[in-house]
Amino acid sequence: MNPWSSNQTVDANRLFSDFGIEPIGEAAQGLPDAPSFVRRGIVVGHRDYRVIVDAIRNHTPFHVLTGFMPSGLPHLGHLMVMKEVVWHVQQGGNGYVAIADREAHAVRGISWDKCREFGREYLKALYALGFRGTTYYQSRNERLKDLAFEASTKVNFSELSAIYGFGPETSLGHAASAATQVGDILFPQIDAGPAPTVVPVGLDQDPHIRLTRDVAHKLRMFTVEDRGDHISVRSKNAPAEALKAVHHAFTGSKKYAGHVDITGLPHAWVDEGVREIEIAHGGFGFYPPSSTYHIFMPGLQGGKMSSSVPESLFGFYESDKSVRKKVLAALTGGRMTLEEQKRLGGEPDRCSVYLLNLFHMLEDDRELSDLRRRCKSGEMTCGQCKKETLERVQAFLMDLRDKMDAAEHLADEVE
Ligand code: TRP
Ligand code: SF4
Repeated sequence: MNPWSSNQTVDANRLFSDFGIEPIGEAAQGLPDAPSFVRRGIVVGHRDYRVIVDAIRNHTPFHVLTGFMPSGLPHLGHLMVMKEVVWHVQQGGNGYVAIADREAHAVRGISWDKCREFGREYLKALYALGFRGTTYYQSRNERLKDLAFEASTKVNFSELSAIYGFGPETSLGHAASAATQVGDILFPQIDAGPAPTVVPVGLDQDPHIRLTRDVAHKLRMFTVEDRGDHISVRSKNAPAEALKAVHHAFTGSKKYAGHVDITGLPHAWVDEGVREIEIAHGGFGFYPPSSTYHIFMPGLQGGKMSSSVPESLFGFYESDKSVRKKVLAALTGGRMTLEEQKRLGGEPDRCSVYLLNLFHMLEDDRELSDLRRRCKSGEMTCGQCKKETLERVQAFLMDLRDKMDAAEHLADEVE
């Protein structure tokens, strides 16, 4: 899978079966208050999300991070990730957002000035939606760059070609921006200390998550494995004193050449103790990042939503006239004639107007199910439905713009 490809046809089932992404259902049941993007089936999968659910429930520290590539202005298609990040911050997460200007420059050839100009709009939108936390531009974050370099020592070209399909024509800058993204995902853990980190992304971004989980593991000094009757702490590249410290920390443990065996203690307990020893000896002690995966909202015209298809989406500052035109021209699940519509009802699941409401414009579940009912019963015409939806879109944009304008100073303070 190539996350930079413009033709994204992600087969969710294949991702689940081939790459080990788990369906979100069971993990999400532990959430005290499931957000609408989970209830409505927009977030469909995850890796290791249970540790985040536990952190939310137990009020223990966790990070939430995502990145935006500033290759154009933010739009409808970016809203979902933004909302997911904001929701996790509201649940107690320590928030991080990277503006991936190095990636935009290396992969899309965007000038540094434009990266800055577009990046500022993403930040304004995030703050407007309620984000609080740390934000940065990749190109200006020295610690990030050092971390990305460290990460790159653990990645070779055969992995890059297996994960991303990189070939001999791939530029070194592009490869470096993959390492930079690994750095982004691990950055909260060097900035604020090791803790579970959730990265909400679209299904297309999973290669980055897999690579980062692999690198996070390789950058650890120890592995801690449950062997049934004992726990084995193996040194991968730990200094001798660190292994000794592990031995001393757990009474009754046995020390061998490259490992220490511990009996009678729970795995999680040993894992935490070893992590602390690793950090005390100059190691990273990374937790492998967790992730959630959402499906994509189709374009308003019914095809894919992409900035290369202007009628598929609207920008946050697009003119009222243009937004109106696009919403009123959107592909619906309505019937050919009014008579048919009344008799058979509409098909909301095939309707981009319905999906626009489901994704973003109707927060209230009862109102959404009422819309669905009125559609399916044939009680409502598509014309009426679009008109109501347009009003919601206009109110949403008006409010967002006010808040974005008010957040300008926050975006301008970002390094
Ligand atoms: N590659 C992402 C994109 O194309 C942007 C990105 C950069 C990102 N760093 C990240 C996403 C870290 C998630 C986590 O949009
Ligand atoms: Fe779509 Fe609304 Fe028409 Fe139903 S009534 S098909 S939801 S536009």
